[in-house]
Amino acid sequence: MIKKGIILAGGLGTRMSPLTKAVNKQLLPMYDKPLIFYPLSVLMLAGIRNILIIVNKGQLNQFKKILPEKNNFGVNLYYKEQLKPRGLPDAFILGEKFIGKDNVALILGDNFFYGQSLSQSLKKNTKFKNGAKIYLHQVKNPQLYGVAILKNRKVVKIVEKPKKNLSNLAVTGLYFFDKNVVSLSKELQISKRKELEITDLLNKYIKKNKLKVDFIGRGGTWLDTGNIQDYYNATNYISAIENRQGLKI
Ligand code: DAU
Repeated sequence: MIKKGIILAGGLGTRMSPLTKAVNKQLLPMYDKPLIFYPLSVLMLAGIRNILIIVNKGQLNQFKKILPEKNNFGVNLYYKEQLKPRGLPDAFILGEKFIGKDNVALILGDNFFYGQSLSQSLKKNTKFKNGAKIYLHQVKNPQLYGVAILKNRKVVKIVEKPKKNLSNLAVTGLYFFDKNVVSLSKELQISKRKELEITDLLNKYIKKNKLKVDFIGRGGTWLDTGNIQDYYNATNYISAIENRQGLKI
């Protein structure tokens, strides 16, 4: 069972500069709420109530104004600063104390998930005891993501931003890990991009035969808001659904 989650909400936001020069991307409006509310709600739908938010150096106060540590939607929030964007697995090194001996979820602060069966699926997938679990989603532009290569419905390898068309199944920014994730992250080497890579971490789990996958199928939506066009597509999507239904995403 997973009871703890991390939202990685740092990064330089260079792809959306100058919008992100003074304000962290995750605090910008995604239609009618700050972007970070969406990944936060995904963790909450998964039943997770203890959440560590990792932010850039110097941005703690901005975040705490929107999401104070106490009395917030019934969740306990904790914060940690990341001094430099060292890569996604740095979340587990920075979060070592918070994680302790528990399993943990990681969600990227700029990822958006939506769909009718999402909460059921999240509850099912957070029940595991050991190993790691990821969600895959078919995309038209796999070169922008980590992709999964499958053989007989089993993942044999994850490749980060492949130049060739190896697979159209992107690894989404929601991951579930057992407690070994901290020590495995510490073993990772810095890549050519000068970062610790989540794909290297996932490949370690594959080697131990401990990585499982689930799919966000055609009826589910996964949008990432990495560049300005994707960002506005997500905003328009939320506006269309909320104005049609009169319900908030
Ligand atoms: O969105 C899913 C993709 O996310 C995966 O398919 C890839 O395998 C994974 O590497 C990642 O790729 P991106 O290129 O989209 O990651 P990006 O560097 O844009 O970082 C994602 C979020 O995490 C963003 O909100 C900034 C934050 N971040 C990133 C890094 C590297 C941090 O807070 N700290 C960091 O050190």
